[in-house]
Amino acid sequence: MLQKQKKLLVVANWKMTPATLAEASKKARSFVDISKKYKKTPKSNVVLQVLVCPPFPLISDIKNIFGNSGALVGAQDVSLFEIGSKTGEVSAGLISSIGASYSIVGHSERRAMGDTDDIVAIKLGQVLSTKMSAIVCIGESERDADGAYLEVIKKQLKSSLARMSNSDFARLVIAYEPVWAIGKKDNIALTGHELHQMVIYIRKVLRDLYNDTIASSVKILYGGSVNSANSEDIIWNGEVDGLLIGRASFEPKSYEEICQSIVLPTISEGNVKNRQKISDLKNSLKNRKKDSVLHDKKEVLAKKKISKVGFSKLKTTQAAKKPAKKINPKKKTSKRK
Ligand code: PGA
Repeated sequence: MLQKQKKLLVVANWKMTPATLAEASKKARSFVDISKKYKKTPKSNVVLQVLVCPPFPLISDIKNIFGNSGALVGAQDVSLFEIGSKTGEVSAGLISSIGASYSIVGHSERRAMGDTDDIVAIKLGQVLSTKMSAIVCIGESERDADGAYLEVIKKQLKSSLARMSNSDFARLVIAYEPVWAIGKKDNIALTGHELHQMVIYIRKVLRDLYNDTIASSVKILYGGSVNSANSEDIIWNGEVDGLLIGRASFEPKSYEEICQSIVLPTISEGNVKNRQKISDLKNSLKNRKKDSVLHDKKEVLAKKKISKVGFSKLKTTQAAKKPAKKINPKKKTSKRK
């Protein structure tokens, strides 16, 4: 029987691409098809929420193309200011009013351009002051053998979330994106098992800072060189609630391959066969166990019998059971002598 349905958030961070509105519109139409295909997967226990975060000027057009397909559009950043004479800034309120459902804040590429944890905390407040949900990125720049990177993560969480009230957490998503794994040519990503340790650690920090409910309910995504070869491991062994995909989301085809790799293990023919094999194996083990219990019981009964009747009597009984012709009394007598 299938387990409870799991909803995964698959974020396409288009960064500063594509080059034109025409190109973006074409891609967006493909994302509509992908969303329709994966928002309901009748034979699977997982459904995907498609979220595309394009550059600001494309949000409105893409929202229109997405219509009611189920695909969502989001922003990659917001201004830390609410409104006013701030040339070049784009406010969270405006972004929300043109149809964005989410905004990323604290992406490492923005942090590299000057966003400190304090700025991230203010931007997070701006996002949450609208109807949007926020995706807060955290991640260490390097991994050291002494585990100092864990402190980096703790500090980022503590400072970036410092202005949150407990009721805001329902609209918070955390994206764990180790900076050393982002945009790498050789696609270095964490393995699912390494990632799982980080997910446990992040939830522990949230438990220490807030409470059990927040720690266990906040969605955690992974980002950093995700592709169709590593996404299945990242999702199913990493135990994350979705992905934040950069380069592999620029093209609908590679984005869809990732979606497919996540959903396939739960619906593929091979998997069904494997599940059948596993259940056959379990049944045969159960039967073997039953047999051996029966066998053991028989043995215990037999032993009890032996101790009750005594060895010599049993020997006689056994001998008596044997066909008469096989017994040669003469031989027996001579042997005893
Ligand atoms: P990448 O980018 O998938 O190209 O590594 C991830 C990100 O920047 O969010």
